[in-house]
Amino acid sequence: MLGYPRSLASVRDLQSQNIHKIIEQAFCFKKSGFTHVREAVVLLAFFEPSTRTRTSFEMAAHRLGMKPVAFAADHSTSLKKGESLHETLANLLAMKPDLLVCRHGGDVRVAEILRTCEVAWVNAGDGQGEHPTQALLDAMTIIERLDQIEGQRIVYVGDVLHSRVARSGVLLFEMLGAEVAVAAPVEWVPKDGAWAKCKRFASLAEASEWATVCIGLRIQKERHADNKSVPVQDYRLDRRNLARLSSNALIMHPGPFVAGEDLDEEILSDPRCAIHDQVTNGVYVRAAIMAEMVGKA
Ligand code: CP
Repeated sequence: MLGYPRSLASVRDLQSQNIHKIIEQAFCFKKSGFTHVREAVVLLAFFEPSTRTRTSFEMAAHRLGMKPVAFAADHSTSLKKGESLHETLANLLAMKPDLLVCRHGGDVRVAEILRTCEVAWVNAGDGQGEHPTQALLDAMTIIERLDQIEGQRIVYVGDVLHSRVARSGVLLFEMLGAEVAVAAPVEWVPKDGAWAKCKRFASLAEASEWATVCIGLRIQKERHADNKSVPVQDYRLDRRNLARLSSNALIMHPGPFVAGEDLDEEILSDPRCAIHDQVTNGVYVRAAIMAEMVGKA
C-alpha cells in the first residue's frame, strides 16, 4: 500500500488513499470472507479496560490465521506485585511479538517506549489522545449506510473534550471531506487546533436539525480532573433530543454507553441506529489493518 505507515499511532499517520484502501479491504473481508495471512504473533497489551477493541482485534487475528496473545493489566499479572506499566511493556516487547496492539491511559513512559520501539504497533486508545481504529470503523459504518463520507455533517455529542474517539474522528472525517461539529456543554468543548474548523451547537436537539450523523459519547469521568456537575440531559441520545433528526440520518456511539446517562436504550431499536454495526465493522477494519501490517513486517 502506497505510503502506509509501519505503525499506526494517529490518524495523522494516514493519507486519504490509505484510509480508502483499509476500508475497501474491510468491505472485501465482510463480503467475501477472510483470507489467511502469515502466522504472525500479535500481542494485545491492554493497560486500560476494553470490551470491543480488545475482543475485535483478537477475533480479527484468529480470522486471519494469526496467533493473538492477550495481556490485560489485572490482578493475575506482576503489576499486582508492584511492577510498573512501562517495565511491563518493556518485558512484553522483549518477547519479540511480530505486531503489538496497545491501549494505555496516557502514561508518558509507556508512550516513550512506543515511540521508540522496534516492533510495529497499533494504537488501541491512549488516554485522551487518539483511537485511530475507532475512527476507521466509524468511517466504514457511515459509508455502508450513507454511501460516502464527503459532504456528511457529523456532530460529536457530549463529553467531546475528553474523547480520543472524537479527536481521531475529526481528523479523519475532515480529511475525507465531511463537516464536523460539536454539541457539548461549554466545559467539554475542545479548543485545540484539531477542532478549529468545527461548528458549535448548544444542545443535541439544535444539532440534530443540521446533522446527517450524530455520534454520542460516554461521559469519561475517569479523565475528569474534578467532580464538577455538568448538565448532561441536553446531550443524551434519546427520543426527545433526536426528535428533529432526519429520517435518513445515522445515530452512532463508540461504546461503551451508560444507559440513561449518555444514551437511552430505546434508541438501539431506532432503524437509524448503527451502534452494533460499528462493533461488527470493527472486526473487519482491524483485520484489514493487521493484514497490511504483518504483510510488511
Ligand atoms: N469503543 C471502544 O473503544 O470500546 P472499548 O473500550 O470497549 O474497547
